[in-house]
Formats: sequence, structure tokens, C-alpha cells
Amino acid sequence: MSVTRTTNPFEIDFRKKFELTDKVVIITGACGLVGRSFCEAAAQYGAHVVVADIALAEPEKFAATLTERHHRKMLGFALDVSSRKDVEQLKNKVVETFGVVHGLVNAHQNKTHLKFVPFEKIDDENWDKVVEINLKGTFLTCQIIGSFMAEQGFGSIINIPSTYSVVAPNQNLYKGTSLGCPAEYSASKGGIDALSRYLASYWGAKGVRVNMITPHGVWNNHEDQFEKNFANFSPLQRLSYNHEVAGAMIYLLSDASSYVTGDNLKVEGGWTVW
Ligand SMILES: NC(=O)c1ccc[n+]([C@@H]2O[C@H](COP(=O)([O-])OP(=O)(O)OC[C@H]3O[C@@H](n4cnc5c(N)ncnc54)[C@H](O)[C@@H]3O)[C@@H](O)[C@H]2O)c1
Repeated sequence: MSVTRTTNPFEIDFRKKFELTDKVVIITGACGLVGRSFCEAAAQYGAHVVVADIALAEPEKFAATLTERHHRKMLGFALDVSSRKDVEQLKNKVVETFGVVHGLVNAHQNKTHLKFVPFEKIDDENWDKVVEINLKGTFLTCQIIGSFMAEQGFGSIINIPSTYSVVAPNQNLYKGTSLGCPAEYSASKGGIDALSRYLASYWGAKGVRVNMITPHGVWNNHEDQFEKNFANFSPLQRLSYNHEVAGAMIYLLSDASSYVTGDNLKVEGGWTVW
């Protein structure tokens, strides 16, 4: 991306900087709670969205809905992000279809963490599965698709760690509920955080920016008690909604953030401010 060399703001179309017109954006975990709002938001800003998710989530179906809504070519692709072969096939398909990749958003996650397992009882299988999908999946998409971006000389990658790679879970949040955040989730997300900073430095000179978005407490029919507990600990006193996370993605994918890399944009209602 070439940057306008000027100090005269009259020469700049600031609104245009946020546009994603004709940009090709791959979103993993695209059919999930946050992923689907990312897809619709990117589509509204003009992108060709590549909807990537496991077969069970029917990514082709969601891509077809987006095509119909936005009258623009979208692509659905079923994959397991922890499989090198699958991620290679995704990259090949996107390059064959569009010839270019502008954005990669890693919004996948392994669900097993929702069944809270106390630290003393985490077994190897559970640990490996969470780390394999969350962290290795992010490594593979960054390596395979990010390397392609580095060859192109441009691209924006957004990875998703967690508030719990920034601070520890407040155990009082879960009091009186069946919920909890297990250690393997935090650990896998901490790895994503470190990997993203590493890549921001590694690919800076190649024109590939690598940033993070940290959502927090995205409402998903939570238990009443959890919602009450959450409000007590949150400066904004409520859970968030999936559409509230998408603005950060538009900013980080677009030219509006052309001088931002290695950052973690926290969309967490001030959770970590006190
Ligand atoms: N929801 C929150 O409150 C919250 C808070 C902090 C961080 N996050 C992070 O934000 C991201 C999105 O969260 P969400 O709430 O939308 O999660 P979600 O569980 O609703 O969606 C995750 C998606 O990932 C897909 N997925 C699972 N395994 C996969 C695999 N092997 N290959 C490809 N896709 C796979 C699932 O099918 C699903 O569509 C995740 O990385 C999550 O850890 C969420």
C-alpha cells in the first residue's frame, strides 16, 4: 500500500480510508458468534469475504447468503484450521478465485473450553485439542496465507487472543454459575498474543501488518447470574454484542490503520482498566 506523503489534510479522503471495496478478506471461524458479524460488516464495507469454517458450520451456505445480500462474489470454504493440508487448500482456492488476499482474520476457536474443567483435572487430550485449534490453527493460517501476503508486499492480519491472555480471569465472575474459563484456553490465547507481536515485527518491512482484537463477554444467551456478575465487574456494566466488535476489525483491515501494527485493540468495555 502506498501512503500519501503530505501534511495537508485537505488532500485526504478520511471516510474512504475505512472502505474495503473489492478487498479480499479471509475470515476463519466465520460462522461463529463474532465471525458472522465480522463477515457481514466486511461485506457492508465492500469486501469479497471468504467464509472459512468447519464443514459442520456450512460456510458455503453463509457465503451464498452474503453473495445474495451484497451482490458480490463471496467464497465459502470448509476446513479444519489445525490441518496444514486444509489451510494450503484454502489459500490455493482463494488465490485461484481472486488472485490476491488483502486481509486475514482468525476468529476460530475450539469450543471445549465452554465446559469448564478445573485446572487439576485438565487432561492431555483436552489441552492438546484447544492448543492445536486455537494456537496452531492461527500459526498455520498466518504462515501459509501471511507468507503469500508478504510475497505480494501487502496485507493485514488480525488475530484474536482474549482478555485472559492480558489478565487472569476473576474467579468471582463465575460464582453461582456453571461457567468458567479453563487454563488451556488462556494459555493458547497467550501464545496467539506473542505470535502476533512476533509477526508484526517479522513482516513489518514486507508491508504486512499484524494486529489483534480482544473481544470480551460477547452476549450469547448467558445465564442470568453470569450477566449480573459481569455487570458488577465491568466499567460499562454490561456484556457486549457481536456487532460491537466489528468496528475494530474494519479499522484494522482498512487503510485507516495504515500505521498500526503489533497492537491489541481491546473491545472489552474497560474490563482491564481497573
Ligand atoms: N465470545 C466472547 O466473549 C469472546 C471473548 C474473547 C475472545 N473471543 C474470541 O473471539 C473469537 C470468536 O469467538 P466466538 O464467540 O465467535 O466463538 P464461536 O465459538 O461462536 O465461533 C468459533 C467458530 O470457530 C469455528 N471452529 C472451531 N474449530 C475450528 C477448526 N478446527 N477449524 C475452523 N474453524 C473452527 C467454529 O465452527 C465456530 O464457527 C474466538 O477466537 C474467541 O476465542 C471471544
